[in-house]
Amino acid sequence: MPIQKVKFIWMNGKFVPWDEANIHVLSHALHYGSGVFEGIRAYENENGTFIFRLKDHIIRLFESAKIYFMEIPYSIEEICEATKELLRKNELRAGYIRPIAFRGYGEMGLNPLNSPVDVVIATWPWGAYLGEEGIEKGIRAKISSFKRIDVNTLPPAAKATGQYINSILAKIEAIKDGYDEAILLDQRGFVSEGSGENIFIVKNGILYTPPSASGILKGITRDTVMKLSENLGYKVVEQELVRTDLYLADEVFFTGTAAEIVPIREIDHRTIGDGKPGPVVRNLQSSFKQLIQGKYSEFEDWLDYV
Ligand SMILES: Cc1ncc(COP(=O)(O)O)c(C=O)c1O
Repeated sequence: MPIQKVKFIWMNGKFVPWDEANIHVLSHALHYGSGVFEGIRAYENENGTFIFRLKDHIIRLFESAKIYFMEIPYSIEEICEATKELLRKNELRAGYIRPIAFRGYGEMGLNPLNSPVDVVIATWPWGAYLGEEGIEKGIRAKISSFKRIDVNTLPPAAKATGQYINSILAKIEAIKDGYDEAILLDQRGFVSEGSGENIFIVKNGILYTPPSASGILKGITRDTVMKLSENLGYKVVEQELVRTDLYLADEVFFTGTAAEIVPIREIDHRTIGDGKPGPVVRNLQSSFKQLIQGKYSEFEDWLDYV
């Protein structure tokens, strides 16, 4: 989906016109993937525009940076405030937000510690990542032949740019094989996650999702869904899963900021349940909608109005 241009991008403390937000071709991050980033959504409800769990995302950005010894030269509060101001300046009522901190121009070579850390925040309108039809009817996924990166190779707890080459290999394979999305197994062969989404299954009314030891990024939507599920009275268990747990589940679905909550109707040519989004995922999708509409007083703090 082409990026839809808006007016400004926040770059190292300044609001820069969109077309002028450029960096040098010898920036460290372009060569070695030495950046960390976030994906956040802003929504609009009758109370105005808000950013969903902004602080949690920015905390995760700083945690990713910590893993790679990147000193972000701003505070969490400053980045949150800059993000809100960016939405106001761009007069965006809803959209996707992409903060990124990366090793910039200065030195080449694998030691990044002397390269500057540049920080950029961009935002633009972005619809459903796996399509509106996917949200409604469910998507088709395949188990990738590429394994998920491991905690002791490229730590999945860091949302680092270079690490996404792993997701890209899996995504390309899935698309070329005629599927919508890939499901990656961890290095031991347990289910990990999608190329850019966490995964849940439902079996006999209980929800199961892989733990961090399975090489997942601990998704904020995953956490939202776990809390919404408990609120709705479902039991949620973090547990290692094998591929046949997916094939034999009553329901399977992905969660992610870009994707939101997306049912999976088929995996490796096996129909999941009766091939239609099941009652639990439907219930979660409508609770998530209510949450966005500001109808959940328990979770009001997650809606950060701009
Ligand atoms: C690899 C990966 N897993 C899971 C997720 C879902 O995380 P979140 O719900 O915080 O967007 C993402 C998206 O950021 C991702 O890139």
